[in-house]
Amino acid sequence: MSFRIYRNTHGKTKMQQFQVPKDCGPMVLDALMYIKGYMDSSLGFRRSCREGICGSCAMNINGKNTLACLTPIQTKNVIYPLPHMPIKRDLIPDMQQFYKQYAEIKPYLIPKEKKKNPDTEFLQTIEERKKLDGMYECILCACCSTSCPSYWWNGDKYLGPAVLMQAYRWISDSRDGHTKERLEALDDPMKLYRCKTIMNCTNACPKGLNPAKAIGQLKKQIEG
Ligand code: SF4
Ligand code: F3S
Ligand code: FES
Repeated sequence: MSFRIYRNTHGKTKMQQFQVPKDCGPMVLDALMYIKGYMDSSLGFRRSCREGICGSCAMNINGKNTLACLTPIQTKNVIYPLPHMPIKRDLIPDMQQFYKQYAEIKPYLIPKEKKKNPDTEFLQTIEERKKLDGMYECILCACCSTSCPSYWWNGDKYLGPAVLMQAYRWISDSRDGHTKERLEALDDPMKLYRCKTIMNCTNACPKGLNPAKAIGQLKKQIEG
């Protein structure tokens, strides 16, 4: 199995070739761990859960943004970091801007009213809870945002599909009392309307989610 892997050490870049035995494991992440363990311990990449839950092993594999732990090894594998992101080292992108944008949408419940009794729960009907399906599963891997041309060119101002879908997740939550303020904060030509319905985001999502649809619903709700 051949691997061509992008390397970046203090800005010095190259593609490095590795031959990995067939039985090192079924997934690209297994091969990367084999390379790091037995061939070149300096190879930099992120990983944690190894089962598509933490979102940390997102990278560009054979031209597609996806999770290394969910991608089967091919005979030939070409691996780059997530595109158009500043690189810390090798396959490790700098996610600071992405998390800053995530914080900006206040990704937490702002309740309608204060609880009289702190031991009670905020209740939802089954139908209200269902509105969050297809959004709460997002693992913030950034495969979608880094496949979006609008995010490539305006990532400092455009919030991108991952963060916008999270914004819509809280707007759709029946327990949240901040809907008006959340919508007002997003009604901006750069933050939201830089989305030009290119759809790369939905195409890229390794969890099968549809951030483009969430953005469409956001625009609809703002435009009334
Ligand atoms: Fe990753 Fe999909 Fe969430 Fe985008 S929507 S961050 S691709 S899980
Ligand atoms: Fe980008 Fe997806 Fe919109 S690819 S332009 S966020 S539909
Ligand atoms: Fe957690 Fe791949 S290692 S998603």
